[in-house]
Amino acid sequence: MPAPQARPTTPPIVAPSILSADFSRLAEALALADPTREWVHCDVMDNHFVPNLTFGPIVVGAVRKLTSAMLDVHLMITEPARLIPAFRAAGADSITIHFEACADVAGTLATVRANGARVGLAIKPETPLESAERHLDSLDVLLVMTVEPGFGGQDFMSDMMAKVRQARDWRLERRGRYLIEVDGGIAPDTARVARAAGAEVFVAGHAIFAQPDPRAALEALRAAVKP
Ligand code: DX5
Ligand code: ZN
Repeated sequence: MPAPQARPTTPPIVAPSILSADFSRLAEALALADPTREWVHCDVMDNHFVPNLTFGPIVVGAVRKLTSAMLDVHLMITEPARLIPAFRAAGADSITIHFEACADVAGTLATVRANGARVGLAIKPETPLESAERHLDSLDVLLVMTVEPGFGGQDFMSDMMAKVRQARDWRLERRGRYLIEVDGGIAPDTARVARAAGAEVFVAGHAIFAQPDPRAALEALRAAVKP
């Protein structure tokens, strides 16, 4: 495993999503991310909470061996609690669960915390911020989905920016400390829009790994979100 390095928590942060990477050349894809300023986003899907199936702790463990970057694990799985220790043991630094996927959201967030990971909560496009309000105080990361979860390469939903602004205002009023992350359809143009609304962590799959020059595409995203 590469030597542990400082985990960046100062925004803006770009988080390349391996969902759109070539899994037969994962090492090459992961080498693009700069561990001193970026997170690597891992999308875990169960064909139940979302109609797609990806990978579990074994692949997260393989990713862990290939990068020292902060691993931002996005669990799109129903009732993730019992798997949280396995993802943590595999090397997840931050674990984001879905508000809509857990009967006991507070308990599941507490399980993430108890396992020593940074605590993230994701909300689907149709979920208003108010529904998740009572959990906001306990979060390190609030993930506002800007597409329906399940697939890469979808169009950015610009109407989610009202929710991002609301999350920013709420944090200011209530002295919250979560970072606001956006996920879905993020490319340089939409990242700028999201940044203006208050987003700080920018997940991007297609806009990096489906481009002819992924390194240049990542650089363009970095430039787009630069303060
Ligand atoms: C979608 C995933 C995203 C996905 C984003 O459910 O949560 O992380 O990788 O892909 P792009 O950037 O291609 O929209
Ligand atoms: Zn994701």
